[in-house]
Amino acid sequence: MKFFLDTANLNEIREGVSLGLVDGITTNPSLVAKEGGVDFKQHVVAICELVAGDVSAEVTSLDTEGMLSEGREYAAIAPNVVVKCPLTADGLRATRQLTSEGIRVNVTLCFSPAQAILAAKAGAAYISPFIGRLDDIGQNGLELVRDIVEIYNNYNWKTEVLAASIRHPIHVIETARAGADVATMPFKVMQQLIKHPLTDKGLDQFLADWRKSVSSKPDQNVNLLKEVVNVRQ
Ligand code: G3P
Repeated sequence: MKFFLDTANLNEIREGVSLGLVDGITTNPSLVAKEGGVDFKQHVVAICELVAGDVSAEVTSLDTEGMLSEGREYAAIAPNVVVKCPLTADGLRATRQLTSEGIRVNVTLCFSPAQAILAAKAGAAYISPFIGRLDDIGQNGLELVRDIVEIYNNYNWKTEVLAASIRHPIHVIETARAGADVATMPFKVMQQLIKHPLTDKGLDQFLADWRKSVSSKPDQNVNLLKEVVNVRQ
């Protein structure tokens, strides 16, 4: 399973990359707007310099022609740019055309299995079901991911299932259980995945015991240290 960061923040991307856990990035117009008036294309260049994996850049046109010209422009920025098109009739037309030109498309704002079927048929590289936003309106976002994985597996469709709108670690665990190809998550969720109170408690205990044993046998430890130094020399 690949892990993408769902952010346009360069510091978060740097930190995530330094953990060695980031396989790609997804952005959307809201996430880019949060970065405060950056030049979009230059910002995508900066992200692509930090990340070797796929970087999704979303079009803002609503008509197919507009999406095509934005999509071609973004795809020319770097080979790892994936164009993000919305799941509308125009978006599906743009997806089909961009795909036929060798440009990979992430179809976004997917909220039903029917929409996911259309994205795969249009040749999308990725489909992005939005889990959290479905949960927000009392529907089951994880069930949507499970349905899409099952349907795609039935036909061996190559479109990758990219679970999006992830809000907490259980979303990540459950999308992994469902067999999603990718989970894209805010940096905060990636950090939450690392943490467990018993890990912290266990570590504190190990170190406290270690310090106690070191201070109760000072001579033995000095001798041990000398042996180590001798071996290394
Ligand atoms: O990039 C799309 C996405 O993951 C949105 O997440 O939390 O705004 O619903 P959210």
